[in-house]
Amino acid sequence: MSRRSVLKLAGVLALAGLAPRALAQAGKSHLDLEVDFVPSEPEVVEAMLKLAGVKPGDVVYDLGCGDGRIVITAARQYGATGVGIDIDPERIAEAKENAKKARVGDKVKFRQGDVFEADFHDATVVTLFLRTDYNRKLRPRLLAQLKPGTRIVSHEHDFAEDWPPEKTVRVAGTTVFRWTIPAKK
Ligand SMILES: C[S@@+](CC[C@H](N)C(=O)[O-])C[C@H]1O[C@@H](n2cnc3c(N)ncnc32)[C@H](O)[C@@H]1O
Repeated sequence: MSRRSVLKLAGVLALAGLAPRALAQAGKSHLDLEVDFVPSEPEVVEAMLKLAGVKPGDVVYDLGCGDGRIVITAARQYGATGVGIDIDPERIAEAKENAKKARVGDKVKFRQGDVFEADFHDATVVTLFLRTDYNRKLRPRLLAQLKPGTRIVSHEHDFAEDWPPEKTVRVAGTTVFRWTIPAKK
C-alpha cells in the first residue's frame, strides 16, 4: 500500500474513532512514523517561545505539531496566531480539541500534512521538535519559503555545523536552539 493510501486509511479510521487506543495511550502513533509523538514539556514550550521572542502579531508554525501545545500556548499566552502541521490525523483531531478547550480556536489552525510538502511561507516563527536529519532535509525549504528575520527554534536538534545556532538555552535537561533567516542574497 502506498504512503498516501496508508495516510488516507488512517484518517478514515481516526474519524471513525477506530484508531488503536493502546497505541494512542502510549503516545505512539498508529502510523509507522520515524518521528513519533513525544510532547515537549511545558517548561520547554515556554523556553522555545521566549527564545523566539514571540509577541502579538507573530504567526507561529509548529512543523510536526503533535497535540498542538506550542501554537496553543503561543496564542493563549503571547497573543500570536498559529498553524500546526502534523502527518498524523489523530494528532490533528487532538490539537483541534485542545485549542477549543483553551478557547483559542479562532487564533490557531491545524492541518494534516507532511512537513516536507507543507507551505509555511507566512510564518514569522517556526518551531521544530523532529530529528536532526529531518531538520537538515527541511533546511532548503525553510530558507526558500521563509522571509528574512523569521526565527526558527528547535527542541533538541540542530541543523549542521555550517549553520550554527545564534543562541542556545538549556532547560529541563534538554537544549533549545535559535536561528534567524538571513537576508536574501
Ligand atoms: C516529537 S513530536 C513533537 C510534537 C510537538 N511539536 C511538541 O514539541 O510537543 C513530533 C511530531 O511530528 C509528527 N511528524 C513526524 N513526521 C512528520 C512529517 N513527515 N510531517 C509532519 N509531521 C510529522 C509526529 O506525528 C509527531 O506528532
